[in-house]
Amino acid sequence: MLKAHGITKTFGEGPSRTVALRDVDLSVDYGEMLYIVGPSGSGKTTLLSIISGILRPDAGQVVVKDRDIWTLDSDALAGFRLQTIGFVFQDYHLFPRLTTTENVAIPLILRRESWEQSLAQARRTLRIVGLETKEGLPPYKLSGGEKQRVAIARAIVSEPDLLVLDEPTASLDGETGRMIVSFVKENILNAHRAIVIVTHDSRIYEYATRVVRMEDGHIIPGGG
Ligand SMILES: Nc1ncnc2c1ncn2[C@@H]1O[C@H](COP(=O)(O)OP(=O)(O)OP(=O)(O)O)[C@@H](O)[C@H]1O
Ligand SMILES: [Mg+2]
Repeated sequence: MLKAHGITKTFGEGPSRTVALRDVDLSVDYGEMLYIVGPSGSGKTTLLSIISGILRPDAGQVVVKDRDIWTLDSDALAGFRLQTIGFVFQDYHLFPRLTTTENVAIPLILRRESWEQSLAQARRTLRIVGLETKEGLPPYKLSGGEKQRVAIARAIVSEPDLLVLDEPTASLDGETGRMIVSFVKENILNAHRAIVIVTHDSRIYEYATRVVRMEDGHIIPGGG
């Protein structure tokens, strides 16, 4: 499903110059739940952003479902992302002034589906993540685990083939974290999809189908 090759990314200049990724290769197959682990600052979020079409690499190629994504123009890339990729950010990125349902409906509204249809689909997706009683609430009235589930609902509402989660359990207790990850594995993963998760959380390792380790901008061969 996904092949990244020779990915390099540098931030800043002079003394603050940081090489975040050095010539990284990564493949993800259909049906995989791949974990990327490694110390803070090793380049995990940078790599997720690049394979998801959010951050442009300095060099290298990312092919998702036969599409060489960084050769697309920005409109084509935005459209492809809306159709194909769901991203859950490390810190949720929910819109504080929107309700739970409206937050989940955003990708559909961006796809120019009608407001009513988008909200109806958002409500169905909230039911899948067990939040049907929280539909009308703003994010600040939700617990950490509930916000995490809203972010997941927003990432899956458009039925993406590739679901990418950055530290989905970081702010959750062990029980809630395991619940969310096992939920995603059971309900989202299938033979036509793949999931990539960045995590520090050893309590959820049991759900991975494969683990790779990053260190200092590299993927460590055979690490995991
Ligand atoms: N926008 C940016 N500007 C400058 N430096 C950046 C930027 N984004 C990331 N970096 C640097 O690139 C390196 C890799 O960062 P990244 O966020 O990918 O690490 P990470 O593995 O996700 O860490 P964590 O586990 O703490 O989330 C770090 O040294 C970071 O400071
Ligand atoms: Mg990170």
